[in-house]
Amino acid sequence: MKLLVATGNQGKAREIRRMLGDLPYQIVTLADLDNPPEVEETGSTFLENAMIKAAAYSEFSGMLTLADDSGLVVDALDGAPGVYSARFAPTDDERIEKLLGMLEEVPDEKRTARFVCAMALSNPTGEMNFRLGTVEGVIIREKRGDGGFGYDPVFFVPEAGKTMSEMTAEEKNEISHRARAFAEIKEIL
Ligand code: IMP
Repeated sequence: MKLLVATGNQGKAREIRRMLGDLPYQIVTLADLDNPPEVEETGSTFLENAMIKAAAYSEFSGMLTLADDSGLVVDALDGAPGVYSARFAPTDDERIEKLLGMLEEVPDEKRTARFVCAMALSNPTGEMNFRLGTVEGVIIREKRGDGGFGYDPVFFVPEAGKTMSEMTAEEKNEISHRARAFAEIKEIL
């Protein structure tokens, strides 16, 4: 059976493909579709955005569709960048620079943050399931490591003793917000 993973982000697509492991689904992404519509993330929560995308792309494709929305929630910034994580600045480097600038005066013990991932699974009949996953961390003051993507270089995970960028793909896939949400979606699949 086909499963449309509704993302254009290759970093995410790679992670989800790896986590699907031996489930008997044929994975299709937006890159495999002819003229997929642009679906705007107009929701005010990760969950709303994931459901908007899952519903729109399962209707368009007629396939069982998995969509996610994820981002970084920083306590000292009242939850920012949140649903605007991808739109916070034009590039990964600029996003990190902006984040570190906003946190410059914030002491170490107040730099707590979490990555949140909402996943929604929609089939063309309109049935929708969803799950959330989170991973707790601290925003450090300089980048460390060169793996992963996005905010990974400044996101230190105390339970692992390293930043997300210093982890191997396997390590990240064991503890990440996406892995945790996906572990539960996998039960449904
Ligand atoms: P989305 O594509 O709307 O879900 O936006 C997610 C954005 O949040 C990405 O572009 C990254 O900036 C950030 N993000 C989400 N997951 C991760 C992750 O695992 N590592 C680093 N940054 C992430």
